[in-house]
Amino acid sequence: MDFTVTLKHHVARVETGLDRHLPAAGTRPARLHAAMRYSLQAGGKRLRPVLVLATAEVCGGMADAALPAAMAIECLHTYSLIHDDLPCMDNDDLRRGRPTVHRQFDEATALLAGDALLTHAFALLAENYPDKLAAALVRELADAAGSRRLIGGQMEDLLAEKKTDTTTEELEFIHLNKTAAMIEAALVMGGLIGGANEGSIAALRRAGRHLGLAFQIIDDILDATADTATLGKTAGKDAKAGKATFVRLHGLEKSRQLAEEHSTAALTALASLPGDAGFLKALVESMSRRVS
Ligand code: IPE
Ligand code: IPE
Ligand code: MG
Ligand code: MG
Ligand code: MG
Repeated sequence: MDFTVTLKHHVARVETGLDRHLPAAGTRPARLHAAMRYSLQAGGKRLRPVLVLATAEVCGGMADAALPAAMAIECLHTYSLIHDDLPCMDNDDLRRGRPTVHRQFDEATALLAGDALLTHAFALLAENYPDKLAAALVRELADAAGSRRLIGGQMEDLLAEKKTDTTTEELEFIHLNKTAAMIEAALVMGGLIGGANEGSIAALRRAGRHLGLAFQIIDDILDATADTATLGKTAGKDAKAGKATFVRLHGLEKSRQLAEEHSTAALTALASLPGDAGFLKALVESMSRRVS
């Protein structure tokens, strides 16, 4: 099937699934459930859940079996965005083309909606998989989202705002953890559901690490070069906040080259999988050309 058609199909399955599984907007506490739906249903590229679905298929599983894990990772990702946008963190007003949750509701509601989405992610895993697989998925997601990875990366991202001497090693730590960890987890969770062997899981981890680095380098480039309307989030904020970014440390040209190198390394890792990774490879390529 054509790449765009398959992508749309995967995205539609994730969005329908989320609509069915989220607490209904009118149910008590209605304000909290409305805020959870507001952020999750604002769109977004749905990269991580699509990676889960597509990887499970490549590894021999059914995309249906992967849907709860795909939704879980999108809930977790969306929580990380809601909190990332809070005034105490990046202080952003716009996300996915809409006012951020704390702008549309209020800060406490945004904090709680994020907390609830984080918890909902683990409930989706616990409720939808046999014990042994559920435990492996919970462990994978908890590691990726925990203090050594996503949260650790976010911590160092904020600490680096106050510094002018961030090293390339520190910058790589930030990007590997605040962003690549979840992309790696998406691929590995898809592999676990598809029954991938150890060698394939290692290849998926490598692919995720490189795709994740490429993804965040491009996010840095877009922040510096794209416009707010196209991005659906405020452009030019990294430089104003004094963020440690690839653009700041390496300049635009070198950043583009590094993103390209990491995309190519991700493609090489995917090529070592035994299944047909055609869709996944096209997805990696489309992400390296993305404009938002
Ligand atoms: C934004 O992620 C945060 C980063 C890790 C750069 P995405 O660019 O995947 O955001 P959505 O999900 O498409 O809105
Ligand atoms: C976000 O990095 C990473 C996470 C939300 C975990 P950024 O702060 O660069 O993401 P955007 O640019 O706000 O989407
Ligand atoms: Mg941030
Ligand atoms: Mg941010
Ligand atoms: Mg950014």
